Amino acid sequence: MLTHATVEESQKLEAVRSRLMEGQRSRGSLIPILQTIQKEMGYLPAEALDLVAGLLNISAGEVYGVASFYNQFRFNPPGKHQIKVCLGTACHVRGGDIILENFERKLDIKEGHTTEDREFSLERVACVGCCALAPVVLMNEKTHGYMSPSKVEGLFTQLEIAKKKSESNKTDGSE
Ligand code: FES
Repeated sequence: MLTHATVEESQKLEAVRSRLMEGQRSRGSLIPILQTIQKEMGYLPAEALDLVAGLLNISAGEVYGVASFYNQFRFNPPGKHQIKVCLGTACHVRGGDIILENFERKLDIKEGHTTEDREFSLERVACVGCCALAPVVLMNEKTHGYMSPSKVEGLFTQLEIAKKKSESNKTDGSE
């Protein structure tokens, strides 16, 4: 399912639109245009596909068809915390798919999606280059090796503790 942009994102998209209006707008520029939008917004909201369709005079379905062919494009916003579960061969063999299932259950989303509050996004990735630590997870680009279901829980507990700490620091600072 395509996600709709927030008001702030729609404003960003409008700024991108103005810029694109000045550039080249042939069918051949479809991929570069999508790349520009994704770079600015982190993903391609439904409105972006409509915008590009309008610019290039093709259907939004056609734009989606092309974009969904390439792994580089995402249709859900990146979460504040980005979780990437490695499912390269070494990680897969050592239970990477079970780790992914653990995250899916915990967050109540499927891989490739973002929680409604946009706190977490979850995706599967190919080998991240540290197979000796398999199964591996990247959370906010930090590597966590030898993952297990209890370690999945542990990561959320750590986040919770860090959040509480920063909230109490803020409260202390304001008093
Ligand atoms: S397969 Fe996961 S790090 Fe290589």
